[in-house]
Amino acid sequence: GRPLKIAVLGAGVVGTEVIRALVTDSHDLGARIGAAVELVGVGVRDVAADRDAIVPTSLLTSNAADLVAGADIVVELMGGIEPARTLILHAFETGASVVTANKALIAAHGPELYEAAERAGRDLYFEAAVAGAIPVVRALRESLSGDHVRRVLGIVNGTTNYILDQMTTDGLDMAQALSQAQELGYAEADPTADVEGMDAAAKAAIIAALAFHTRMPLAAVAREGITTVTKEDVDAARDAGYVIKLLAIVEDTEAGVQARVHPSLVPVGHPLAGVHGAFNAVFVEADDAGELMFYGRGAGGAPTASAVLGDIVSAARHRAHGGLAPAESAYAAIPIAAAAEA
Ligand code: NDP
Ligand code: HSE
Repeated sequence: GRPLKIAVLGAGVVGTEVIRALVTDSHDLGARIGAAVELVGVGVRDVAADRDAIVPTSLLTSNAADLVAGADIVVELMGGIEPARTLILHAFETGASVVTANKALIAAHGPELYEAAERAGRDLYFEAAVAGAIPVVRALRESLSGDHVRRVLGIVNGTTNYILDQMTTDGLDMAQALSQAQELGYAEADPTADVEGMDAAAKAAIIAALAFHTRMPLAAVAREGITTVTKEDVDAARDAGYVIKLLAIVEDTEAGVQARVHPSLVPVGHPLAGVHGAFNAVFVEADDAGELMFYGRGAGGAPTASAVLGDIVSAARHRAHGGLAPAESAYAAIPIAAAAEA
């Protein structure tokens, strides 16, 4: 059949790394999918802006709506609510599958987007929206969907973890650490979303919906960011045997499911205290599974692209052959290294 047409909306920190893989690795991706994929266009704000040389200039367009209309899989990596929301709704109307990393959008408009996907008989994939490279969305949505989750506790914002870590280990102040986090591609376009806890709150709302099969409005997530945390607080906590971490806590209580985000004192011996830099960690407590911990890179171009690409493979497999991995024969061309002689 013809190659599946992929439109990428956004060629920023994450989009560039997704495009890199689609351009340099499309043969391998096609083998894993069991169908060829083709990058057919890249939607941006400014087609004349300086970009990484990997982004094909000939594919750039500022007309995202037209791009969406001709695609099989739309990968939304622009961020923000509009025009991302309208473009995704439009994508479903035209029969495309959608992959997004946009937690702000999923947290605010998830139900509307799920319903549009259902009406179209398509899927909405958003693994990258929570904890970057860590496959926690699939774990909650699929692997743990037969269990009863009781509590989820996590470091889900890489920028604030990086900032608090740099304030602890390098003695930087918050502004210096934030500008480093921005240079490293961890922060949101408006980093207020990170430091004021909005980004972590959006992720907490998504986690609540997935883990507790409910709708958690963003406004129902209690939120306090890290802007009032000082170097003196960090030092005093360390002297007392604690590390300050911005935690997202979602739990099943007698009053119902509650979600909150706030700076917390974590004892230095606790595994969460050892989560450094832009790494994230998510603890899940469930009735049958007991305690699980997911750990990995929570922000940055390549780690986030890893999750987006996994979703692209899932969406493409679904379209090509109902979600199944390609038949064994598709792997026959991959050489197997001989076992070493004993
Ligand atoms: P960037 O700001 O680096 O890139 C955004 C891209 O989208 C740019 O290429 C920009 O175009 C394009 N864009 C923005 N608005 C429009 C518009 N109205 N029309 C057309 N194009 C537009 O963002 P990131 O790559 O960091 O983030 C993208 C998404 O991924 C966000 O939803 C973010 O929350 C999410 N995310 C980010 C992570 C990270 O570590 N950075 C991790 C996990 C999720 P132009 O280049 O012309 O300005
Ligand atoms: N700004 C976000 C963070 C990106 O720092 O965690 C990953 O979602």
